[in-house]
Amino acid sequence: MKRVLLIGGSGQLGTAIRRRWDDCEITAPTHAELDIRHSVALAEALARSRADVLVNAAAFHDVDRCESEPLAAFETNAVAVGVAARLARDAGALFVTLSTDYVFDGEGGTPYTEADAPHPLSVYGTSKLAGEHLVERLRAPAFVVRTCGIYGPTSSASRRPSLLDRVLASRAGAPLRVVADVCASPTFAGDLADALRRLIDRDVYGLYHAVNVGPVSWYEFAAEAARLAGTDAQIEPIRAEQRSTVAPRPRFSALSNAKLGGLGIRMPSWREGLAACLGVSPAIG
Ligand SMILES: NC(=O)c1ccc[n+]([C@@H]2O[C@H](COP(=O)([O-])OP(=O)(O)OC[C@H]3O[C@@H](n4cnc5c(N)ncnc54)[C@H](OP(=O)(O)O)[C@@H]3O)[C@@H](O)[C@H]2O)c1
Repeated sequence: MKRVLLIGGSGQLGTAIRRRWDDCEITAPTHAELDIRHSVALAEALARSRADVLVNAAAFHDVDRCESEPLAAFETNAVAVGVAARLARDAGALFVTLSTDYVFDGEGGTPYTEADAPHPLSVYGTSKLAGEHLVERLRAPAFVVRTCGIYGPTSSASRRPSLLDRVLASRAGAPLRVVADVCASPTFAGDLADALRRLIDRDVYGLYHAVNVGPVSWYEFAAEAARLAGTDAQIEPIRAEQRSTVAPRPRFSALSNAKLGGLGIRMPSWREGLAACLGVSPAIG
């Protein structure tokens, strides 16, 4: 049985990992118990848990706040990730960390592969890319997995509601305005956790994309979520220029799973992911 030390276990992905990796012995300290930026505490936790795998599902990913707090963004998303990768290597543990579609500028029109050149638009994307580089330069057993638009249950104190949360909370009479000209690969945390579980059994380390298969516009995603959930939410399409965000975001940031698929690890479609999260059949409707 693999011993796993999981950082960020109360988050969306962390919650899915805790629920779904039932063949692993998971130690998941809370953020209050272990801050990934505290390297001494992390080294002690690694030694105490005798982990075979260190999974970092923590991040500072309030994309707009990162613009005004670049030091904090780089501390958590880059420096701490590089240090954690080194500590994992020194402890003989595999390191797994998550990155983002926001490393791309969104000027492409087909799902990005691992071979495409990153060009982040935001401080958040830049800090995550720096984290990727700090892991890669160690050439130690590690997986850096880029994903996109995660949704799923969470008990995280710091996270803001996902688009799915907002759809489920919205009601007729108060339309939810959602961008119709921005496409991505929204991903169910449960599907991502399942893919990661299979990935850590392999020794073909490196950079991978893992998302529910898209692309889909956020408007279409929200409308399908409302339909599948049977809510009377009113979803109103808007253009990217009409939303008020601080950080620039890519217009098209769907990712390709082709490299992951080459390992025989298949990701479900965005509709299947959404239906699985809502506990309904994708065919209903
Ligand atoms: N969410 C997305 O749409 C998305 C898209 C692409 C990539 N990603 C990446 O995927 C990963 C998982 O995302 P998620 O949506 O599951 O995140 P999430 O729900 O926001 O959870 C983040 C977790 O990290 C913890 N945390 C935050 N800062 C920490 C620190 N300094 N030390 C220790 N723990 C800390 C949080 O605890 P508290 O709540 O107690 O602070 C929470 O448990 C992240 O690397 C993220 O960048 C996410």
